Amino acid sequence: MSNENVANLLKEERRFAPNAEIADGANVTAHTYAQANADELRFWKNQASRLTWSREPIQTLDWSSPPFAKWFADGELNVAYNCVDRHVEAGLGDRVAIHFEGEPGDSRAITYAELQRDVAQAAHALTALGVHAGDRVAIYLPMIPEAAVAMLACARIGAPHSVVFGGFSADALAARIADAGAQVVITADGGYRRGKQLALKPTVDQALTLDGVGHVRHVLVVRRTGQDVAMKDGRDEWWHEALAGQPEDHTPVAFGAEHPLFILYTSGTTGKPKGILHTSGGYLTQAAYTHHAVFDLKPETDVYWCTADVGWITGHSYIVYGPLANGATQVMYEGTPDAPHRGRFWEIIAKYGVSLLYTAPTAIRTFMKWGEHIPADYDLTSLRVLGSVGEPINPEAWIWYWEHIGGGRCPIVDTWWQTETGAMMISPLPGVTVTKPGAAQTPLPGISATVVDDGGNEAPDGVGGYLVLERPWPAMLRTIWGDDQRYIDTYWKRFGNRYFAGDGAKKDEDGDIWLMGRVDDVMLVSGHNISTAEVESALVSHPQVAEAAVVGVADATTGQAIVAFVIMRGGVPEDGPLAGELRAHVARTLGPIAKPQRVLCVPELPKTRSGKIMRRLLRDVAENRELGDVTTLTDPAVMHLIKDGLPTANNKS
Ligand code: WTA
Repeated sequence: MSNENVANLLKEERRFAPNAEIADGANVTAHTYAQANADELRFWKNQASRLTWSREPIQTLDWSSPPFAKWFADGELNVAYNCVDRHVEAGLGDRVAIHFEGEPGDSRAITYAELQRDVAQAAHALTALGVHAGDRVAIYLPMIPEAAVAMLACARIGAPHSVVFGGFSADALAARIADAGAQVVITADGGYRRGKQLALKPTVDQALTLDGVGHVRHVLVVRRTGQDVAMKDGRDEWWHEALAGQPEDHTPVAFGAEHPLFILYTSGTTGKPKGILHTSGGYLTQAAYTHHAVFDLKPETDVYWCTADVGWITGHSYIVYGPLANGATQVMYEGTPDAPHRGRFWEIIAKYGVSLLYTAPTAIRTFMKWGEHIPADYDLTSLRVLGSVGEPINPEAWIWYWEHIGGGRCPIVDTWWQTETGAMMISPLPGVTVTKPGAAQTPLPGISATVVDDGGNEAPDGVGGYLVLERPWPAMLRTIWGDDQRYIDTYWKRFGNRYFAGDGAKKDEDGDIWLMGRVDDVMLVSGHNISTAEVESALVSHPQVAEAAVVGVADATTGQAIVAFVIMRGGVPEDGPLAGELRAHVARTLGPIAKPQRVLCVPELPKTRSGKIMRRLLRDVAENRELGDVTTLTDPAVMHLIKDGLPTANNKS
């Protein structure tokens, strides 16, 4: 297959210009790109002035010992003051910061003034437990406002937090507590998920019996469900009791811009998890700027909702730090989209008048599967801008989001970034970009990204390669906690002093960037790079396919052969001529080279808790191997469902 044909794999001709209202009033205009390009450092220096500094930085970037960057290093600020107090001081104390919606239907509005009081009391409570600046605090909570309060209280006293997603097991929690050396754990009795009470405290108790966590001195327990919990004398204390009686104000102390703000472990597929370290001034600058620019946030009128969990980087940067630094009003929802019914998200949007929505392609495809009649029952006219994050969004899902959620009027911002980048890097701007379904498109102002080949040379337009970031950016990770060498080896070895993101990508003739999935998700069939994302997108464009995951498996003839796992839309027979038809459909859509050798119908796909398909496990199944580690799956039982339902591996359907 010629390069030209490879280029055609992602030919998506539809274009969507921003509507006039968004374009006319946009926070950021096309002019900003030129301004930022002319002097990137000056651009970021200007953005840093969105924050309130106790000591204004004179320096911008110190890149004298790459890859260890310092941003605004001589500046001093308090991150929590920036996210809370300064809004109250500006007279906005009565503005709602968080509309909390519990899964059982309880709700609570928390103003900035109330948030200030809660954070102050929590900061005093942590100090009373002997937590000092630099000490680590682990946070293991459901999606409740106390998660944000706990994070901000840590930030306020300069104690880096390590939030561990509430769905992780005792082993995973213990490994993270041990690696970070946390002294205090903040947890809850439990939370609500899919109509059930999920216990958290017993998992903490179990984790604290494991090796390497002897440094934990105290556990604070938020009461959420009221279920029974065992409290260990001298170690465990109720959160509300620890806060009660603490002073309602707290004088913030300023820390240097490079003071560590948090560690967040990435759910790496192999090896020990990587503790990604983020610091204060640069991180907050970019989180705040991108939230302002990419969502076109108007804090006086917008209601913003990010559906991610605070346990992921999206929750850190776009529930807590970015939106609160900008004085936004946001919705926080505890539960799942199908509890108690499949219209819950749309009901919440109508209830609060949500105008800016940030969610993930995996959620959108689930909504597609459930059918557009569900959102059609709700008033979604408050929506203005729709965001996507977490994986490449296939054009079919993009179009569905555009039509059935955005009513054909809301710009979609497909935001590419990573735990490591800390904040958005590549994304359309809602008032500027003519969007292309499936493409993240343009590095944001002040960011430089490109696509290179194996040798590190710029890849020609339309030819797949590796995504690299060419210059340091304010919210970049500073290192891997406790392992500078791994930081260098993982991100900075392969292409010299450019950051290797681990994602495949290509640029089209306009220079727009299309992400093609993780590099290990790129298949090599007869010497051609074919991305899993492209084949999956082709499969999902068939009217009877709801979801698809493809993997490359070893093949004597072609190097790798493509095996597709598909979930059919309800009621479609799972046998018969369909597999052949789907193979033909992919051949027609993408070219014969991309035709799956096998198509297997399955009831579910294995996903990590952040919604990423674990192709590694599907490869194990397709190659008839023992399954690898399944502990990071949302539901490890899914793999049995898949294996049990399949024909023998060499049965080419
Ligand atoms: C993928 C999530 C394509 C990518 C913020 C990246 C995306 C990894 C996109 C980071 C997108 C995230 N288009 N791919 N818009 N957003 N990814 O650390 O492979 O959980 O490297 O951060 O998700 O995942 P992480």
